[in-house]
Amino acid sequence: MRKILGLSAFYHDAAAALVVDGEIIAAAQEERFSRRKNDDRFPSQAIAWCLREAGLTEADLDAVVFYDKPILKFVRSVETWLTVAPRGARSFVQALPQWVGGRLNIVGTVREELPGLSNSCPVLFTTHHQAHAASAFYPSPFDEAAILTVDGVGEYATTTIARGHGNAIELLQELRFPHSLGLLYSAFTAYCGFHVNSGEYKLMGLAPYGEPIYADRIRDQLLDLKADGSFRLNLDFFSFMEGESMIHPRFHDLFGGHPRHPSEPIETRHLNVARSIQTVTEEILLRLARQARAVTGARDLCMAGGVALNCVANGLILREKIFDRLWIQPAAGDAGAALGAALAAWYQPPEGAPPTRRPQSPDSMKGGALGPGIIDDDVESMLRESGAVVHRLDDASLVPTVVQLLADQKVVGWVQGRMEFGPRALGNRSILGDARSPRMQSVMNLKIKFRESFRPFAPLVLLERTADYFDLTQPSPYMLIVAPVRPELRHPPSSGAAGLDRVHHPHSTIPAVTHVDYSARIQTVDSQTHPLLHRLLTGFEKVTGCAVLVNTSFNIRGEPIICTPSDAYRCFLKTEMDALVVGHCLLLRADQPRQVVEGADRVRVEELEPAPTRIGDGPKLREQPSEWRKFVAVWVAAASLLLYFLHRRHPSTFSSWPYLQGILLAILGVGMLRPRWFRQPYRAVTIATYHVGKPISQVVLRLFFWVVLTPFGWILRAGGHAPLPLRRDPAAPTYWGTPPAPRGLHRPA
Ligand SMILES: [Fe+2]
Repeated sequence: MRKILGLSAFYHDAAAALVVDGEIIAAAQEERFSRRKNDDRFPSQAIAWCLREAGLTEADLDAVVFYDKPILKFVRSVETWLTVAPRGARSFVQALPQWVGGRLNIVGTVREELPGLSNSCPVLFTTHHQAHAASAFYPSPFDEAAILTVDGVGEYATTTIARGHGNAIELLQELRFPHSLGLLYSAFTAYCGFHVNSGEYKLMGLAPYGEPIYADRIRDQLLDLKADGSFRLNLDFFSFMEGESMIHPRFHDLFGGHPRHPSEPIETRHLNVARSIQTVTEEILLRLARQARAVTGARDLCMAGGVALNCVANGLILREKIFDRLWIQPAAGDAGAALGAALAAWYQPPEGAPPTRRPQSPDSMKGGALGPGIIDDDVESMLRESGAVVHRLDDASLVPTVVQLLADQKVVGWVQGRMEFGPRALGNRSILGDARSPRMQSVMNLKIKFRESFRPFAPLVLLERTADYFDLTQPSPYMLIVAPVRPELRHPPSSGAAGLDRVHHPHSTIPAVTHVDYSARIQTVDSQTHPLLHRLLTGFEKVTGCAVLVNTSFNIRGEPIICTPSDAYRCFLKTEMDALVVGHCLLLRADQPRQVVEGADRVRVEELEPAPTRIGDGPKLREQPSEWRKFVAVWVAAASLLLYFLHRRHPSTFSSWPYLQGILLAILGVGMLRPRWFRQPYRAVTIATYHVGKPISQVVLRLFFWVVLTPFGWILRAGGHAPLPLRRDPAAPTYWGTPPAPRGLHRPA
């Protein structure tokens, strides 16, 4: 048995994935355990859970694979600073300690965090887009396919086209930093007042309310887009290379004013900007898909990378019939790259013959349910100990009871089986509601999710009834394809309302899941992958005649999706959800003791969305006895040396040094035997030295940036050797480049 652990960390969404003999055993994001949204720290808790789930220890692992090549990424960062200097000093000062503090030495970081790894277990590296491509192709049902990966940036690549065949992936073309569709979309996300790397979904949800009046301006001023989908950005309008913000003030002027602050109201201008960038993004993605088809000749397409989460564009690619079938990795962002890294090391091992790949139908992702599961008895005792009033349902009564609640327009928290891997809840960690209700979207947004009311919810629909409700030509099990609601179900547009006010108008007979442009972000439910959810939908259809339910992730704004039953219970108490079903345990809000409900921490919206912490932010406090022993040994040795020299120079003053030395030796002995006693001094000294050292290092780094890097950058640029390709060339036929030859998995560069 070969057990391979894939990791992603230090940028967006840290995650761990465990693959045993090619089978995906477990995968989860760190945020679900740490309860810190988009947690990018080393995924210690996710790793520990993956190993526990498989009954393994660190010592059992045959390889650990990191999802990018850190040295290449660092070199690209240096090239970026050389390109923009003297601007970018602040980003240099912030980033360099993070690189030195662990990002550059991933082998050391992994071995330090996983001390049980055997010496024979290698730490391997894929490139970032190799990991995305592997996550898109290997779990897919296709033996041969085109692979399109599009994101912000990996090492250098921002977009790649590859061909997958059997167990091999061949990278064919790439676009390179700083020309990135992901960064372009994120720039508009920032401009409209949403968080980069998490607010892109909001921008996409806003787009249908606006008109694409700025689309030509984006095409003409911000881009040079070729017919084959390759493009370059006009970097005069962006400042992401300097690292302080995404956009330059020239960008503000282009779109009629300053960027929206998150607390400011959304104006018509923002709606139009959102619609315009969405339109251009769809246009680019369509061209990229056509190019992928032309270059590979494949009939099916796999996608991954953060931009593959743009499900409106995905729906368009499908409707344009560029490919026969489309499969998108449900964890398309960087979390999924942890899985891709592990699969790449399995199918393209650094030594030995690659194993044969047998694609599975519908795919190998197990419906995305790769996280922790639940045990009914444990759930019931936890809930009762917490003071909850619990009804234990049996198999026969579970579905009818929940169907009746939903038919009565109740909002139901629904926690079943294993947690989903990726950004969407797919019916295992979900909040469900009646799609027929005109009030459901507003109620769920404002009373349960505490978020903007313009955002639509996704429909769950029985796979076999999909065509009755939507114009969708293939299953969409991961909620990654948007398709139109069927014309006969639509209501005419409201005559009086405009802009965001249109959200209150029911747009179809299933208004809770129909966006203002009559689109829906569909999740099809089949009886094989989701038997219980399928039964629930079937039961709901029998009672109401409607085979569609509202599905939204079980969390509130600013928090990760719930992981455990106790997370679910806390979230249930914090919100105004009517019922919670965890396994076979049912909690009705009306039954719960008043003191429990009133004693719960209610949500305070202004406290939501905490800023993520990055590696290098704050002192690194290690909580192992070996660290406290090391701390004692170092300080005793330093004090001993000082004492010795003082005694040599001033023998009369320090005549008692042997006694002092004896005391130091006693401290050393206690430190070795009782290291825990030195935890607090260790923490105090580490924090103090960090706060003294940080400003000094910032001054030194800033001087280095201006005195060394800036002149060197000037010389390079003056000599025509700009480290990164910046210029647009309207006469050039294409910007596609050939990817460098594959680099060995043992190499971090
Ligand atoms: Fe990525």
